[in-house]
Amino acid sequence: MSSWNSDVDLSGKNSLGFKVTAERYLQVDSIESLRIALYEVEQNNWPLLILGGGSNLVLKDYLPGAVISVATQGVHVLVDNESEAIVEVGAGENWHGFVGQLLQMGLHGLENLALIPGNVGAAPVQNIGAYGVELADCFHSLTAYDRKSGELVQLSKEQCQFGYRDSIFKSKEPGRYIIWQVRFSLSSVFQPNLSYKGLQEYLSSIGVREPNAHDVYKAVCEIRQSKLPTPSEIGNAGSFFENPVVPEAEYHRIKQDYPSLVAYPDRESHYKLAAGWLIDQAGWKGHCSGSVGVYDKQALVLVNHGGGSCTELLDLAKEIQDSVLDKFGVSLQMEPRVYPV
Ligand code: EPU
Repeated sequence: MSSWNSDVDLSGKNSLGFKVTAERYLQVDSIESLRIALYEVEQNNWPLLILGGGSNLVLKDYLPGAVISVATQGVHVLVDNESEAIVEVGAGENWHGFVGQLLQMGLHGLENLALIPGNVGAAPVQNIGAYGVELADCFHSLTAYDRKSGELVQLSKEQCQFGYRDSIFKSKEPGRYIIWQVRFSLSSVFQPNLSYKGLQEYLSSIGVREPNAHDVYKAVCEIRQSKLPTPSEIGNAGSFFENPVVPEAEYHRIKQDYPSLVAYPDRESHYKLAAGWLIDQAGWKGHCSGSVGVYDKQALVLVNHGGGSCTELLDLAKEIQDSVLDKFGVSLQMEPRVYPV
């Protein structure tokens, strides 16, 4: 029998800071305790949420069933030679802490992903990305508990089926795998990725022409802090909507009416539109609706000013979706997951 905690307050475990109560909660740090907990979940048919850093979740007030938090820790270098370094990290490690640790160790590739909230185990689920880099670029493989077979399995990059803010864990097989350890393929030689215009411009503006890894890491932190709210200060779940990808003809249709539209060519004959721009143009930036609202420095981020609830936030999200659809004919998809559905 696992020692579940009852009626646990998860206010500090979701970055929106909603007051949420879990019927049962358990933190696990060994496969054995995970197996026992899952056995009970299955025997009792409890709904189950695997909780990471809680930074990409919109939780309702009460979570019936069970919540399991994976607490595997540790950063280990498995291979380190001239051409490659493979590092294995526990799913329960804090993502930003891990990126900082790699910087200290002189292992490179993830600097552009500094300051993304959440845990390592959640990062592959939505293939986190920022400033021209996404997790998939440095991903090697992972170890997960497969609830279907009851075994620990190793999944390669191909098997994870990464896409824009997407993976097998999100789309094709949600709920099947519990990510336990993640391995990254890094390099001891630093090669800056400055493909994101804003990053390059920022570095030039502070007089850095040939940035080292610390410069890039620091610049990313500073840009994020200037544009995105810190969850411990203002509750939020990062980008609340995905940037919509539309066929070229639709892009041209919108561009004709709105010449300042921000968009980037995407996969063949498609464009990725900046959802933040669409929401901003629809007049939502800085809007408040009771305790929730739209962040005043980045319209793509919805915030909880304190005391807000899931219902309030989803009502606001729906109003924004309707207004963007009405104005531009584009439908916005939510990025964070709502639980329970
Ligand atoms: N824009 C506006 N008004 C706004 C917000 C944005 O006009 O209120 C315009 C900007 O001027 C810019 C464009 O929209 O030209 C894109 O904005 P930004 O560069 O801030 O990036 P984003 O597309 O809004 C994405 C990711 C972020 C990531 C940044 C940086 C998604 C959904 N979001 O945001 O990821 O940090 O790029 O790479 O892909 C997250 O997923 O939680 C997240 C923060």
